[in-house]
Amino acid sequence: MEIQKWKGILSPYELAVEELRVKFHHIIKENRAAGRYSPIEQVSCRVKTVSSILDKARRKNIPLEEIEEKITDIAGVRLICQFVEDIDKVAAIVRERPDMEVVEENDYVHHSKPSGYQSYHLVVRYEVTTIHGPRKVPVEIQIRTLAMNFWAIIEHSLQYKYSGNVPEHISERLLAAAQAVVSLDKEMSMIRDDIVMAQDLFLNKARIVSEIKSNIENLYKFENRDAMENIQNEFFELFRNGTLEELEEFNRKLDEVAARQGVQEL
Ligand code: GTP
Ligand code: MG
Repeated sequence: MEIQKWKGILSPYELAVEELRVKFHHIIKENRAAGRYSPIEQVSCRVKTVSSILDKARRKNIPLEEIEEKITDIAGVRLICQFVEDIDKVAAIVRERPDMEVVEENDYVHHSKPSGYQSYHLVVRYEVTTIHGPRKVPVEIQIRTLAMNFWAIIEHSLQYKYSGNVPEHISERLLAAAQAVVSLDKEMSMIRDDIVMAQDLFLNKARIVSEIKSNIENLYKFENRDAMENIQNEFFELFRNGTLEELEEFNRKLDEVAARQGVQEL
């Protein structure tokens, strides 16, 4: 098939992954802006290359005209989580979305593959609108922890290096490493509450500091230099040594000053 034809075939898949990248990334942004822990840590997307689509079609005896119907991972989205517990939450988010219709699910987290591979897979149908009108394309969504992702990337490079015939002593090592991934994820889950709390604290501090900063910027138009210097000094002191509650209290005070001055909240 000519290159031009492939460009046309792949175009809706490219649009789908671009849109999904924005949508999933926005979930991270919305959570962080609200000072909440995001079950999604990272998003990455790709469209399969023509050569790897052709390779897969050959491997699976799929005729060229059935590629689009039978190969469901031409468009791929990977959602990386910090903890195993987050995987179910992210899968639930995908299932609940009105813009994605789940057509297949594979749980390789609770039932890892013989290679040791762990990940949760969903295939969804996702509608894009191209110049030729609306079109639903399949997208494979892989959800896994950072540790599972580390393993999968290394294993994939080794499969590539050895053209799928990884020597036995290396596959044994990989299986042992997969076991270590399970243990690492388990250990991390044990301290998850502490880690999540520390991250929440960090996010909340960042949010409150940014509110204080815009309050101070607004007040500059109304307060005199001395008053502003006092406010700034108090802020720096609290930023260095204060608690989150004290920063919040300080911000409330600035709100009150602003209200007295009739400064519009931005
Ligand atoms: P594929 O022909 O590989 O797509 O297999 P499949 O159609 O039976 O689907 P499956 O759910 O087994 O795998 C889908 C995708 O998961 C693959 O394309 C890989 O990205 C990933 N995957 C599955 N098994 C492994 C594995 O053992 N190692 C790694 N690194 N990735 C895997
Ligand atoms: Mg597949």
